[in-house]
Amino acid sequence: MRIGILGTGALAIALGGAWTRAGHEVLVGGRSPDKAAAAAARMGGPAQAVAPAEAVIERDAVLVAVSWPGLPGILRAAGAADGSLAGTPLIDPTNAVEHGVGELLTRDGRAAAEHIADWAPGSQVVKAFHLFAADQWSESRKPVTVVLAGDHDAALRTTADLVRDVGAQAAVLGSLSRARQLEEVAGFVIGLAFSGVDPTSAIPRVPTPATTA
Ligand SMILES: NC(=O)c1ccc[n+]([C@@H]2O[C@H](COP(=O)([O-])OP(=O)(O)OC[C@H]3O[C@@H](n4cnc5c(N)ncnc54)[C@H](OP(=O)(O)O)[C@@H]3O)[C@@H](O)[C@H]2O)c1
Repeated sequence: MRIGILGTGALAIALGGAWTRAGHEVLVGGRSPDKAAAAAARMGGPAQAVAPAEAVIERDAVLVAVSWPGLPGILRAAGAADGSLAGTPLIDPTNAVEHGVGELLTRDGRAAAEHIADWAPGSQVVKAFHLFAADQWSESRKPVTVVLAGDHDAALRTTADLVRDVGAQAAVLGSLSRARQLEEVAGFVIGLAFSGVDPTSAIPRVPTPATTA
């Protein structure tokens, strides 16, 4: 696939590196050209640094991996308001939560993913990859499930393929209106972890057809 990445930090490098190793063509752009060049080098192989506006052209999927306060700016730089992302699966891993506390910062009852859909008109936003730390994708780890939410079946399928290509399995929770729930789960996990409680110990084991078969 032809993948664009907006953002040059830890998650961009981890996922971009994993997708590059899986044989995808990755373009990465951020507000700093030097950081984009360093990120592309760390992804390895043929990953290339470009301007944000170029990173979203003719892409099968775009990942926007930027801190919450930087999202409107990077999407503006990518031409999103003018429709540059229209029709493109736009993968949103944002945790718009207060560091160490986990409270949602959107404060208006809407998910960060829904704001991103507003800032990138016509894009096909899929919430994904927000729950696991970046090193899940750069180091050899136990396989996990990445839960997705989105309104567009084709974009959900594309994202599920990209989840599979980093060694995980995908599960769709529902439409983008469920993204808020996924974001609250991250807040729950972060809040408990910072208070010293293992979040997995606070979730009941529920029998499923897979575990009872
Ligand atoms: N790292 C993880 O384990 C992880 C896991 C799940 C989800 N996430 C989410 O993924 C996103 C990226 O996280 P990260 O850990 O990769 O962050 P990071 O390493 O701190 O990198 C942050 C990225 O956002 C950019 N940025 C910050 N403020 C900006 C602004 N005002 N305008 C434009 N760009 C700005 C930074 O650019 P500069 O370097 O130029 O400042 C950098 O490219 C976040 O939304 C985070 O919640 C991260």
